[in-house]
Amino acid sequence: MTADSRPRPTLFVIFGIGGDLTWRKLIPALYNLFLDHWLPDNFQVLGLGHKSMNDEAFLDHLRQGVIQLSRRKEIDGPHWKAFASHLTFQSADFSDPQVYTRLAGQFQDLDEKWGTGAVRIFYLASPPGVMETIVELLGQAHLSLERERTRIVIEKPFGRDLASAKSLNRMLTEVFSESQIYRIDHYLGKETVQNILAFRFANTLFEPIWNRQYIDHVQITVAEKIGVAHRGHYYDQAGALRDMLQNHLIQLLCLTAMEPMISLEDNEIRNKKTEVLQAIRPIAVDEVPAMAARGQYDAGCIEGDQVLDYRREKNVSPESVTETYGAVKLFVDNWRWQDVPFYLRTGKRLPAKVSEVNIQFRPVPHQVFPFSPGLDRPPNRLLISIQPLEGILLRFEAKHPGRPLRLTPVNMGFYYQEAFKIPSPDAYETLLLDVMLGNATLFMRGDQTEAAWTVISPILEAWDRSAPSDFPNYQAGTWGPKSAEELIARDGRQWIIPSLQQYEEVLQRCTAAEGKE
Ligand SMILES: NC(=O)c1ccc[n+]([C@@H]2O[C@H](COP(=O)([O-])OP(=O)(O)OC[C@H]3O[C@@H](n4cnc5c(N)ncnc54)[C@H](OP(=O)(O)O)[C@@H]3O)[C@@H](O)[C@H]2O)c1
Repeated sequence: MTADSRPRPTLFVIFGIGGDLTWRKLIPALYNLFLDHWLPDNFQVLGLGHKSMNDEAFLDHLRQGVIQLSRRKEIDGPHWKAFASHLTFQSADFSDPQVYTRLAGQFQDLDEKWGTGAVRIFYLASPPGVMETIVELLGQAHLSLERERTRIVIEKPFGRDLASAKSLNRMLTEVFSESQIYRIDHYLGKETVQNILAFRFANTLFEPIWNRQYIDHVQITVAEKIGVAHRGHYYDQAGALRDMLQNHLIQLLCLTAMEPMISLEDNEIRNKKTEVLQAIRPIAVDEVPAMAARGQYDAGCIEGDQVLDYRREKNVSPESVTETYGAVKLFVDNWRWQDVPFYLRTGKRLPAKVSEVNIQFRPVPHQVFPFSPGLDRPPNRLLISIQPLEGILLRFEAKHPGRPLRLTPVNMGFYYQEAFKIPSPDAYETLLLDVMLGNATLFMRGDQTEAAWTVISPILEAWDRSAPSDFPNYQAGTWGPKSAEELIARDGRQWIIPSLQQYEEVLQRCTAAEGKE
């Protein structure tokens, strides 16, 4: 999925160098790539933004981001100094056409200096509202024309509904060709998420049972402990469905459900994922109450800390009806998955930061072992864990030692941290390197974004039509509203509560092993 060569000489233009994303993700990721010798010798970041800081103060601001947020904090003098020599900044207003004329001149100068046609990347780390202006002005300055070596990176959110996503795609493809456009969903850069394909298609064991004959249902959970933090303005207009479900959870569903690809070619994988989206059974607006549940958090307690209710968060309307929790039941109508429910849920202020895909297998067809009162009889389950630890856990039944004869569920597990003993790259490291290399596998194609919006559009429409009367309807620090429990209980199932203890045990084992080395 990712190439193992270094990129060609690259000029990386960041629109929004003074922003949060640049500070928290982009510069730390580029710094790690630099430390790992992935960046080409001829590499330059050109940061554009409102802020007019002198270079020294600005570099120090970026350095603080690396110290606080990079997975490696090797921020000693020579390394940072060498990296910083690749960073340049310019104060610019993105609506000023002269900025783009100047860029054209700078591109030419660099090509001459480096003696080659460098790769040019425009990274839009800027608010969605200015995207159209930047793209238009890039087009007017003819900066999109060198198709093979010019790329544009677009952050989420990609629109706020199907109509706006379509219009964004139209606007982008008037200036850039689809092969130049890299729409980021950072979940796809995570190692475990990529490992879903390796696990499914590089092993013979699981694929034969990866279907409706053996799988009872699938649960995908992306739970956050945090509230809206400083993102109240954005989040109150978006909500859980737009912020998380339309992108991260649906992408996880695609990787879990897609058919085997015939090659690792980027469009082949993206085609297979798009087929899943197209096979998702449409939900009629009047079916939404039976297929989805929403919630908004009330005040509560998380790990001993009292937290506010959503409506009292900063930059949130005190009458807000925005959902901070969403759960949806989907079906993928094809031979493999017909009538197997996929339950997706995501929410804020839940008890833990956990992302998991649970594949729940069917019970054995005939049970010969005696039933032990007080012990449930869980059928096999495969847990793909993305957060807080990346790993895979298979649960199966084993005979409990001694008499009387009884069964106990046991786990067989693999965790990246334990197995490889090297830290996984941050998702942004993987994705930024792929953009430089021109590998679009882990990015969303235009038709995928539209298909994903199509899936959730009826739910958004139904929720817009009838305001919730019960918000807030779940306490912070609990696993969500009663309506979500009822959604799955109607099918005779229940949500799998993530086992936080199991993650703590792995972490303890890792710490003990590190101590011994
Ligand atoms: N932050 C995250 O963790 C995160 C995660 C996922 C996706 N994203 C997406 O990434 C993008 C950037 O997010 P962010 O959180 O970094 O936003 P941000 O903190 O508001 O940063 C945006 C930057 O762009 C600058 N800017 C805006 N309009 C400008 C203009 N016309 N001319 C010059 N500079 C201008 C702003 O400067 P001023 O402040 O001086 O106006 C600011 O420095 C957004 O699309 C967001 O949805 C962010």
